[in-house]
Amino acid sequence: MVVNKHRPLSPLGFAPADLVKPAIQSVASGELALLNATTARAAEIMFKAAALAGVTMVLASGYRSYASQQILYGGYVAAWGQASADTASARPGYSEHQTGWSFDIADGSGLASFTPGFKDQPAAIWAAANAYRFGFVVRYPWLQHTVTGFYYEPWHLRFIGTEAAGAMHLRGIETLEEYVGLPAAPGYV
Ligand code: DAL
Ligand code: ZN
Repeated sequence: MVVNKHRPLSPLGFAPADLVKPAIQSVASGELALLNATTARAAEIMFKAAALAGVTMVLASGYRSYASQQILYGGYVAAWGQASADTASARPGYSEHQTGWSFDIADGSGLASFTPGFKDQPAAIWAAANAYRFGFVVRYPWLQHTVTGFYYEPWHLRFIGTEAAGAMHLRGIETLEEYVGLPAAPGYV
């Protein structure tokens, strides 16, 4: 399932049937602490591997329903205006968080969360180098907003399975759009 500015969820109010709470360190509460079952299992394995490498990874935001994305996106629009909000936050019905396949990480220190500088925190450095081994990709890479529609998010991981993530890593493909042969989706249509 590829979700981007050209490909909303169907139906727009879609909710996964298999949401579970992964056994990982989390600062998220309520539904934000949930992931779909496959992603939850993969996250548990990845967080353990990170810990073994001495890196603390924390779940900052997991599943978001249509309603919570509406509130979040609405907050950005109110603060920044719609054009700026659209570079950082998906419209309700268009967020990977609503699929249960994606989540945001923070560092054990909590430093630089949800800022571009997060890329220099141990959790982000480790994830950038290792997440593919657990089936995850950094979904919104640096300078790929003309393809993905969103500015750099070194904290946002998307589960695509070890085979696809391994292939992207090996071939140096940075975006899911390029990997699956979809057109660039810089804006809503
Ligand atoms: N921040 C990402 C793009 C989202 O809102 O889903
Ligand atoms: Zn995210």
